[in-house]
Amino acid sequence: MNTRHFLTLLDLSPDELGALIVRAIELKAIQKKRDLYEPLKNRVLAMVFEKSSTRTRVSFETGMVQLGGYAMFLSPRDTQLGRGEPVEDTARVLSRMADIIMIRTFSHEKIELFAEYSRVPVINALTDMYHPCQLLADIQTFVEHRGSIRGKSVAWIGDGNNMCHSYINAARQFGFHLRIACPEGYDPNADLLAGASDYAEIIRNPREAASGADLIVTDVWASMGQEEEQANREKAFADYQVNATLMSEAATDALFMHCLPAHRGEEVTAEVIDGPQSVTWDEAENRLHAQKALLEFLLV
Ligand code: CP
Ligand code: NVA
Repeated sequence: MNTRHFLTLLDLSPDELGALIVRAIELKAIQKKRDLYEPLKNRVLAMVFEKSSTRTRVSFETGMVQLGGYAMFLSPRDTQLGRGEPVEDTARVLSRMADIIMIRTFSHEKIELFAEYSRVPVINALTDMYHPCQLLADIQTFVEHRGSIRGKSVAWIGDGNNMCHSYINAARQFGFHLRIACPEGYDPNADLLAGASDYAEIIRNPREAASGADLIVTDVWASMGQEEEQANREKAFADYQVNATLMSEAATDALFMHCLPAHRGEEVTAEVIDGPQSVTWDEAENRLHAQKALLEFLLV
């Protein structure tokens, strides 16, 4: 049997992704009723974090406990991976002990290599290239507030980064139209965009991109690993802030999302992220429910 991994949204079919969102909403209802549902008794998730995290760690750890299993946090500071043990060897060994592995790292090639040598499913918990788990939560949140996202207009305002790349894949898989407003020099990957050309396009002007949109999304201007570029990026992205003026270009019932952590006064104003159109806190909570659906899909 081929081991299924979740390295990008393209690893699941559109039907599988749709079912996963439905299941995430069901699992959320089960949890709200405090009904016990423990299909992962004695199953172990190994969580490898080479970058910081609040939401991803807490949601996976909480999710595994709620499903009856256990989650183990592994940092490069105290594993041999951090001292140079080859990725292939770490993958071989971890996957003989843990039932499923989650990794947050820098290069996407590293997680691909890890998955190649793993006997158990590997989940991408963010690389420099993609953040697919966040998109499961974002789509769940849109569906809960507005129904199906198929055919809707989504505006990505800001950096052509890992989140933007996962939005491009999501546009393809969930069938929405994505308009990307990014300054020149900060475009998303050209090949990825070309592969989704029926669904996603670059519209440089943020007002044009936001016009009539059903959902406005942004993210930090400097991602993890780009801290030294912060000052240059603040200049390059100065016209790409999501503020009340930009929100007024969108549909009157448009939602606002941000994967967090946010920098108020940079990519988004406090008025917007803390305002009535923001569903950011539901979006953060849904990391838990969507990933429980993913763990169930990959393990049960
Ligand atoms: N959105 C997200 O992945 O948050 P963390 O970096 O806190 O995990
Ligand atoms: N683009 C951000 C997302 C953080 C969840 C980063 O990579 O730092």
